[in-house]
Amino acid sequence: MTQFYRAKVAGIGAYLPERVVTNDELAARIDTSNEWIIERTGIHRRHVAADDEATSDLALNAAVAALDSAGMDAQDVDLIVLATTTPDSTFPATATKVQAALGITHGAAFDVQAVCAGFVYALSVANNQIVLGQAKNALVIGAETFTRLLDWDDRGTCVLFGDGAGAVVLAGEPLDGDANQRGVLSTHLHSDGRHYNLLYVDGGPSTTQDTGHVRMLGPEVFKHAVNKLSHVVHEALEANGMEANDIAWFVPHQANKRIIDGTAKKLGVPMDKVILTVQDHANTSAASIPLALEAGVADGRIKEGELILIEAIGGGLSWGAGVIRW
Ligand code: UT7
Repeated sequence: MTQFYRAKVAGIGAYLPERVVTNDELAARIDTSNEWIIERTGIHRRHVAADDEATSDLALNAAVAALDSAGMDAQDVDLIVLATTTPDSTFPATATKVQAALGITHGAAFDVQAVCAGFVYALSVANNQIVLGQAKNALVIGAETFTRLLDWDDRGTCVLFGDGAGAVVLAGEPLDGDANQRGVLSTHLHSDGRHYNLLYVDGGPSTTQDTGHVRMLGPEVFKHAVNKLSHVVHEALEANGMEANDIAWFVPHQANKRIIDGTAKKLGVPMDKVILTVQDHANTSAASIPLALEAGVADGRIKEGELILIEAIGGGLSWGAGVIRW
């Protein structure tokens, strides 16, 4: 008989580059203001990677912290799934650089590209590997040097993003029949490529042969975000026979406080059950959810055994949600 497993979150880690850029610093360079940015987005500041810091460096720091918190040796990891939109190179996968830096030569390491929904996608892929017994312990990382994709003359996008990385260690444990067994309970992924041009980068290896810059129709993305996120949260709750009330902490992708507020309102979720980091990190794309999870764990809000709901949307459009018993 096939043995199935549950992927328990055994550890979590985060890394933020040292340099902090305030809204006022941006306002000194472009036609914007601290007031506008705070009122329209909730963002106060963001971290920006040093010139000699690559996505793999951020990812490695977060991964080491996650392994530390799990009390796990890197040699016990047999899968690395790294969500990023800003890989070190077009190929190979940035995950292989992290793997080598951790001294791991067995198992698999690859990247997942779903932009801001990347961490939910990566968690889903790693979870399925573990559930089927094809991997034992996985590092799931969201890492971005997203500011490298910004057009600093486009005030509609350049004020919104930051750099950072977060990681979780998933450990496979045989299903034990306990309804409260810890781990990932379900993930739900969607994309609709008809909306490709709402949020994209105007460059790439097969088109312009350069990296390009982020382009976004912000208000359009905003409308899709609130609708699609509330739908996928309902889908995730229903799949687990749960209601919003059962969830201890909602940990959304941190793009814009108004999107988070709007989605919570639509779902009837009070804001004191929502973890917010957008004010300090801005939008770190695939890194935002693990960074927010880490913040919630570090300050003692998220506790073992509690139900956590994560959700995200980004370019594609691609979106998704997941339910975890922490
Ligand atoms: O993580 C992936 C998902 N991405 C998102 O979720 C982003 C979704 N969209 C948004 O968060 C919002 O649409 C933005 C924050 C990007 C923009 O906020 P908005 O309230 O939708 O503003 P808007 O684009 O409708 O622009 C309103 C005004 C415009 O001026 P006019 O045409 O009314 O004179 C903009 O030119 O605000 C102006 N504006 C700015 N003003 C000062 C746009 N950016 C700025 C800025 N500073 N940085």
